[in-house]
Amino acid sequence: MPSVNPRHRTHTVSETTYEKAANNGELLSVRQIEVVYDGAILAVADISLAVRQGEVVALLGSNGAGKSTTFKAISGLVQADRALVTQGEVRWRGQRVDGIAPNLLARKGIVHVLEGRHVFAHLTVEENLRCGTFARRLSRPATDAALERIYTWFPRLKTKRTTFAGLTSGGEQQMLAIGRALLTEPALVLLDEPSMGLAPIIVQEIFEIITRLNRDEGMSFLVAEQNIHVALHHAHRAYVLETGRVVLSGSSKELLARDDLHEIYLGGSVTA
Ligand SMILES: Nc1ncnc2c1ncn2[C@@H]1O[C@H](COP(=O)(O)OP(=O)(O)OP(=O)(O)O)[C@@H](O)[C@H]1O
Ligand SMILES: [Mg+2]
Repeated sequence: MPSVNPRHRTHTVSETTYEKAANNGELLSVRQIEVVYDGAILAVADISLAVRQGEVVALLGSNGAGKSTTFKAISGLVQADRALVTQGEVRWRGQRVDGIAPNLLARKGIVHVLEGRHVFAHLTVEENLRCGTFARRLSRPATDAALERIYTWFPRLKTKRTTFAGLTSGGEQQMLAIGRALLTEPALVLLDEPSMGLAPIIVQEIFEIITRLNRDEGMSFLVAEQNIHVALHHAHRAYVLETGRVVLSGSSKELLARDDLHEIYLGGSVTA
């Protein structure tokens, strides 16, 4: 049985509220979390956010705002980084999940694509993808069918299937990291800065694939980005983080209409 850290049991919102939220299609709910590294460094002070079924939600913020830490708090990887969620809670389909092991969370349908395109450089593209199927214990034909589906989403990966991942381009490695994550059949993908260091045309291609996966497969995404424009043009809603807090949130349309967004994003004051 997954255990929940008793330190996290100080929540004030009633179970009924969460049941209602889950019934409204709320997949992920993060309430007032605080995350501390090494028992001393306060990285996230107060972040609340939600992702509903079928949504693409952007988490915007500049360097050090707390995007990756928030993702690690959701996926359970904080522990691997000597960090702890010291306040607040994370719920998945209404159930507390903070403190449970990342592999159990992955089985529940959350997958975390880490910042920085982590691929196994000395394995081929296809071998990397096969790693994404291990947890599902698929038969050989079912694995091949699952890989073919990934290749239809990312045709570039098919052309490079026998190439060592370390020899592919940055864009292909990002696609590979996403494709491998999709093989866990997630309901929600936490995608950490997919645009980092990539040419605009590749960034566009990746976001178009995200949009299609969302529209055609109903997959939900929480995407951390510094690239405000590409994120807001592909997300339904967004939260803006500044030094570990949510300073602004709204629909992408509302946020795009604000002419002070850049100022807020770069650490200016919020006026509304
Ligand atoms: N492993 C760590 N140990 C100590 N402090 C950390 C660690 N990782 C992040 N931090 C600190 O936590 C804060 C939030 O960092 P985080 O990486 O979550 O930000 P981010 O929004 O993802 O930034 P970026 O856009 O640069 O990836 C920063 O002050 C950072 O220095
Ligand atoms: Mg980050």
